[in-house]
Amino acid sequence: MPIRPILIHPDPRLKKEAEKVHDLDDELIALADDMLETMYDAPGIGLAAPQVGVLQRLIVLDCVKDESEPPQPLVMFNPEVVLSSDDTSVYEEGCLSIPEQYAEVTRPAEVKVRWIDRAGNEQERDFEGLWSTCVQHEIDHLNGKLFIDYLSPMKRQMMTRKSQKLKRERARV
Ligand code: NI
Repeated sequence: MPIRPILIHPDPRLKKEAEKVHDLDDELIALADDMLETMYDAPGIGLAAPQVGVLQRLIVLDCVKDESEPPQPLVMFNPEVVLSSDDTSVYEEGCLSIPEQYAEVTRPAEVKVRWIDRAGNEQERDFEGLWSTCVQHEIDHLNGKLFIDYLSPMKRQMMTRKSQKLKRERARV
């Protein structure tokens, strides 16, 4: 069953800190592959393990927007932002766990990220543009943080209520 159900906010598992991955076993590799399929199927440009109910530090992303371009899937275990630029950029963000809702979020424009790849090798790379926003958004998920946590309490409550309503409607189907 490669497509995994995505948790919808509010859910306590989306507010928890995920645990560091120690052994890259077959189960974790299979989870990463499932998460990529789930993300492409949604469709989305990033997905974090807590969103499929697994509290481990694993994210997947592919921010290639143009469908004529080849996909660039990235699998990151234990991703860490090691450097952030002072200059910021604003993107309208969404989240597969908060469907159909979007808001502008300000983040560092560029980040250097270190991670363990699908083959178990350490990688380090600079990200900018949409990739930078996306990787920061996904790493936030590993710390129990959602993009709505950057918004005003009022806006956050409003979006939470809408998400709760959508979740109830989907549960009824
Ligand atoms: Ni998200």
